[in-house]
Amino acid sequence: MTASTLTNEDFDRLLEAAKGALANAHSPYSGLRVGAALLAEDGSVHAGCNVESASYGLTICAERSAVFRAVTDGVRGFRAVLITTDRDGALMPCGACRQVLHEHAPELEVIAIGADGERVDTTIAALLPEAIGEADIKGEA
Ligand code: THU
Repeated sequence: MTASTLTNEDFDRLLEAAKGALANAHSPYSGLRVGAALLAEDGSVHAGCNVESASYGLTICAERSAVFRAVTDGVRGFRAVLITTDRDGALMPCGACRQVLHEHAPELEVIAIGADGERVDTTIAALLPEAIGEADIKGEA
């Protein structure tokens, strides 16, 4: 458990955005609605939801939706991500999302909140130690 450095105002903005995205989740197969909201270093907020496919492996999680949406909008550099679902218990990001989040924000704060209010505060560095990154691919690590 890592203490969050977010202001109450930023936390509220993230929670509202993540809940708004969750409402738009497309999850006819699992029935699980997930919303994620990123706080960028410039203060902007970028949300995403999970979008499932009948070809299950093509499903995209809320966290990666949020990253790709922000990048599409020209925003890079993130301070925090808040993830929420319509089920009880804090849902932690899957392995694929940990990798993508780490590449875009190695010092990211991660906050996961369940429908019952259960909350986990951690960091992407704690969730994905020894992560591979751009420098490894370029032989600069
Ligand atoms: N899901 C997310 O959106 N984020 C996660 O971190 C874990 C899982 C979604 C993907 C799929 O639509 C559903 O939850 C069940 O795995």
